Amino acid sequence: MIRFYKGKNYDSASKIAADIIAAQMILKPDCVLGLATGSTPIGAYQELIRMNQAGLIDFSEVSTCNLDEYVGLGGNDEQSYRYFMNHQLFDHVNIDKTRTHVPNGLADDIQAACREYDEIVASVGGADLQLLGIGHDGHIGFNEPGDSFDRGTHLADLQESTIRANSRFWDGDESKVPKQAVTMGIATVMSARRILIMACGADKREIITKAFHGPITPQVPASALQLHPCVYVVGDEAAMGDLC
Ligand code: PGA
Repeated sequence: MIRFYKGKNYDSASKIAADIIAAQMILKPDCVLGLATGSTPIGAYQELIRMNQAGLIDFSEVSTCNLDEYVGLGGNDEQSYRYFMNHQLFDHVNIDKTRTHVPNGLADDIQAACREYDEIVASVGGADLQLLGIGHDGHIGFNEPGDSFDRGTHLADLQESTIRANSRFWDGDESKVPKQAVTMGIATVMSARRILIMACGADKREIITKAFHGPITPQVPASALQLHPCVYVVGDEAAMGDLC
């Protein structure tokens, strides 16, 4: 089942996404949320913070597992995804930080850290709801075009296009962008019971259309989601066009 939801603009799309996450939290207060970084989910996180501070939703029993982390960056590095999550969400809500999980980008043995991360995801029971953004090349997490659909958490080499896109966080200096990341694989993502993927902006229209109306192929990693039993696709008018 794939359901499409279109907000008029970024703020209303963010509100729809936050409402879906809040619904999951209300139905199962000790749920496991799979979370994502990037520009797209920031508005949804702000809305969740507002709802939490208004007493409408409670994070005290929630666990989280993030999709990915750059290799070589620790949690105090402003560009790390642990830092992003703390600053964009965790520091502002009543979550128990010991229940928040982000892959370890500083592990000496990255392969072992990948296996351990899959064990952590399994030990909390798997994600009830996995939030995703989508890259212009169709990547989800750091699963780039060509990656097979059956992988768990693994070490990924970033594509040139992803390095270029993410260099905006390093003042446009591509040489500073880490070239590798630890990422949940498509199999890890697909094991979530529900998936919420967000796309906003006209620049995402072509890829989100390809992902859900094009062939299912590793060349468009997000197209794997067509095989999932419960997906919510949420975006603004610019991205969603005639998708719904
Ligand atoms: P964005 O990134 O939300 O910053 O567009 C999405 C992604 O690359 O997965």
